[in-house]
Amino acid sequence: MVVAFGTPLPRTITLRNGVELPAVGLGTFRAQGDDARTAVLAALKVGLRHIDTASIYKNEGPIREALVASGVPRGEVFVTSKVSPYEQGAGRARTAVEGILERLGLEYLDLVLVHWPGVSRVAPDSPTNGLKRWETWTELERLYGEGRVRAIGVSNYEEAHVRELVRRAAVKPMVNQFEVHPRRQRMELRRLCAQEGIAVVSYASLGCSDLLSHPTVTRLAEEVGRSPAQLLLRWALQEGCAVIPKSIRPERISEWREEALLGPEWGLVPEQVAALRALEDGHKYCWDPAGVA
Ligand SMILES: NC(=O)c1ccc[n+]([C@@H]2O[C@H](COP(=O)([O-])OP(=O)(O)OC[C@H]3O[C@@H](n4cnc5c(N)ncnc54)[C@H](OP(=O)(O)O)[C@@H]3O)[C@@H](O)[C@H]2O)c1
Repeated sequence: MVVAFGTPLPRTITLRNGVELPAVGLGTFRAQGDDARTAVLAALKVGLRHIDTASIYKNEGPIREALVASGVPRGEVFVTSKVSPYEQGAGRARTAVEGILERLGLEYLDLVLVHWPGVSRVAPDSPTNGLKRWETWTELERLYGEGRVRAIGVSNYEEAHVRELVRRAAVKPMVNQFEVHPRRQRMELRRLCAQEGIAVVSYASLGCSDLLSHPTVTRLAEEVGRSPAQLLLRWALQEGCAVIPKSIRPERISEWREEALLGPEWGLVPEQVAALRALEDGHKYCWDPAGVA
């Protein structure tokens, strides 16, 4: 879904089970210790209500402290985590989610994702990947049934992984989180997700900071009178994706306030959207799941 200029963008994306996922969240990859605590507190202070983490980020302690220190009621914050490639498989995925809950000091997660379609220490082309991720999924289905997680989904799933899962799952995935930015738009994968009722959470929206200085981005940011980060995030939001930009700096996080990104008083007109879409060259900033069987 592409949202036109002048339309207020929705604060949340409604998942297939009715759970509301805040469209703007804070990413926490590579945010450690005091930096992670400061970032999460800063995000909650400016009104962001979605925190993205993962067991592999090893920052659950400081995130837990920030969630407590913020004083924001648990029911108002949406917390996502992910079962890592080291934790996939029967028995292991449940233990992983229980560990995440304990380290975050939470009774439940709002969303848990299978972080990666492959399994660590297994060759990418091995059928073991498919077997283990299926075992992982059935464990997530059970945790969902027990109410330990409010929604379940996947991350870095390519078209074939999504099709396979949708065909077999009793509880279909509610989210696919993957890399999306103007240089890598994933139109086909996004179309498939839309057809299957799977919300897209985009990561690396800033191109891991690289896109912030791209000449087209800086030119358009000047045109609309916003920062390059705000421009890139607005583009992804207008494309119908949720965003989870990462920073450890409160002044940068403050630019991502919902009212600064979602309001109808500004936006990208079709020519500006087209200029950003023209940047597509498939460039990948993060890991690539394309070869995972
Ligand atoms: N599911 C997955 O496999 C997966 C993979 C990658 C990421 N993610 C999630 O998505 C989140 C976002 O992705 P990402 O962290 O890879 O990339 P990103 O959000 O595109 O970029 C983050 C980088 O941009 C810098 N930055 C932010 N604002 C800036 C500004 N105004 N000026 C200059 N630099 C700025 C940050 O540095 P400072 O911190 O110093 O500001 C950080 O180095 C992650 O944190 C993680 O939660 C998920």
